[in-house]
Amino acid sequence: MAATLGVTFSGLRFENPFLLSSAPPTESESNILRAFDAGWGGVVTKTIGLHPVVNVDGPKTKFLRAMPESPHLSMKRRPGMALHSSWNWELISDKPLDWWAPRIARIKRAHPTRILVASIMAGSGSDEELRHWQTLARTCQDEGADALELNLSCPHMDRLDMGSNIGKDQAQISIVTKIVKDVATVPVWAKLTPSTTDIVVEARGAFLGGADAVVSSNTFPSITLIDPETLEFEMNVDGYTSSGGLGGPAILPQSLAKMAQLTQAFPDGSFSGIGGIAEFAHALNYFLLGCGTVQVCTAAMLDHAIGPNVIASLTSDMLAFMEKRGYAGLDDFRGLRRDRVVTQSLIRRPDAKAYHGGHEAEGYAVSPADKH
Ligand SMILES: Cc1cc2nc3c(=O)[nH]c(=O)nc-3n(C[C@H](O)[C@H](O)[C@H](O)COP(=O)(O)O)c2cc1C
Repeated sequence: MAATLGVTFSGLRFENPFLLSSAPPTESESNILRAFDAGWGGVVTKTIGLHPVVNVDGPKTKFLRAMPESPHLSMKRRPGMALHSSWNWELISDKPLDWWAPRIARIKRAHPTRILVASIMAGSGSDEELRHWQTLARTCQDEGADALELNLSCPHMDRLDMGSNIGKDQAQISIVTKIVKDVATVPVWAKLTPSTTDIVVEARGAFLGGADAVVSSNTFPSITLIDPETLEFEMNVDGYTSSGGLGGPAILPQSLAKMAQLTQAFPDGSFSGIGGIAEFAHALNYFLLGCGTVQVCTAAMLDHAIGPNVIASLTSDMLAFMEKRGYAGLDDFRGLRRDRVVTQSLIRRPDAKAYHGGHEAEGYAVSPADKH
């Protein structure tokens, strides 16, 4: 039997498990149409809200690059540098809901078999704010969105009742998820922030509220480096910077650590993995930990804005991987390494006689106390 890329995730059928995540690649109708033409199985729209949005003056996203064979890291591009991460302080979509609504309908008409997920965000500090979530949910699903992704994770919202500020609060996550589930006719995904002590706590809040899937990671809170020549932050307005979000290769291992916690705590839950994916080998990590879909942002931004080469290699490399190993589909290898992440005390130690650690280890100075 030929291997298939198709997957069912949160009750929805995807032609392949690769989605463009909510970000600049998914902020226009033409980009989303191009993304589907290029082969992405799903697209999550840039987050839609009801509050007016005004972004900072100047660039909203830049890329940090590393110099091979040197410790140099900088946003200034020089030949031969390799991507380290993306950094952004962009807010949610500055386009209003009535701009998005007809576009969601048109995109779905053009690509009825592809999955279009509407990312939405409102506050949680009042009944009116909670009703905003419902207005956003109803409008997007009425226009044809196949699922809703709740943005509980934007790392740079000023409002205390929005984004990652509520994504750190289990009760608020539960309330928001439940409010949306009360009106939702389509699956509801909760996108959580990695900026929390134990992401399992917040995921439990989302599942208690009725979430059909949990999505992780959004970007990690961070600031840009200071240029040693100018003594200015590499991203600043009038000399001032602020906390923004780190994405791309640098966060792959960190996002995987969050995902390992999630899939172990909820082995029957549905998870969409994001963070640092640029090729199938990266996505494979998330699948082996138990994810049913993955999402991509930074790598797509750097590949003609919507990642045509990225999606072509993700799908062809996944097919080649499955054919080589005789797998018929993702379910044959999903979660295969989930239980191999254990507490450190369970990792085998060498036999006592073979152990030459501590003060005996080569390179450690003998302490004065040991000499006597
Ligand atoms: C410029 C930029 C804007 C983003 N905007 C949103 C957003 O509106 N909503 C959201 O849920 N995530 C947003 N994200 C986060 C991405 O969807 C994704 O979670 C993150 O970049 C990690 O994936 P990556 O390592 O593939 O970039 C944004 C990321 C970037 C770089």
